[in-house]
Amino acid sequence: MMAQFEVCVFDAYGTLFDVAAAARSLAEVPGRDGFAAVWQQVAADWRAKQLAYSWLRAVARDHCDFWQVTQDSLDWALERSGLGADADLREALLGLYWQLAAYPEVPSMLAALKRGGLQTAILSNGSPEMLQGAVDSAGIDGDLDAVLSVEKVGTFKPDARVYDMVGKRFACAPIEVLFVSSNGWDAAFAAAYGFDTLWVNRAGEPVDRLGAQPGRVARDLTGVAQIAGVA
Ligand code: LAC
Repeated sequence: MMAQFEVCVFDAYGTLFDVAAAARSLAEVPGRDGFAAVWQQVAADWRAKQLAYSWLRAVARDHCDFWQVTQDSLDWALERSGLGADADLREALLGLYWQLAAYPEVPSMLAALKRGGLQTAILSNGSPEMLQGAVDSAGIDGDLDAVLSVEKVGTFKPDARVYDMVGKRFACAPIEVLFVSSNGWDAAFAAAYGFDTLWVNRAGEPVDRLGAQPGRVARDLTGVAQIAGVA
């Protein structure tokens, strides 16, 4: 049977790359006691503000790249936790973005998709430089056909111009795309756009109350090749 999909597209941060594990490992480094006490709050604030700033800048048409957004949101999170003066910690946390690991199931999942004849891509808010750094450090470059950054269209998800990039790059219809994201809102807007969607809900969170819902939900990425029809 022919696979239903032409291309499998992945969100980056929290979907392929384990950002939380990187922050946790920094909290375990000897001498980081102040950070160890509050790292979960810092990580949660950092991610929440990173997303909020991306949406606000998109709505206000005041674009800057995701590296700037990532620094601005970290500065807010560190100040809130009383660590705003720790320039060394700031540098160490920002440095994590350039040496992220992929979730353990990612390499075999991507390899199975490629063996099955699918095209694979990242579609992310990340700047091209950030994404290349993460792809290189995770060692998954060889099984990705494209790394698509929003910088090409100068706004952020969930603007439809971002999802348009997939059809333009792969010359395919939305229904030929399996879109995978750990962000429920990203999967929801991608579903409204017309992609077949998988929300990777590792934390067991409630579904976002938006105009559309993700088509499928899973706890991790292990079933992606099967959903894509190539396992
Ligand atoms: C991304 C963020 C939203 O990679 O996780 O686009």
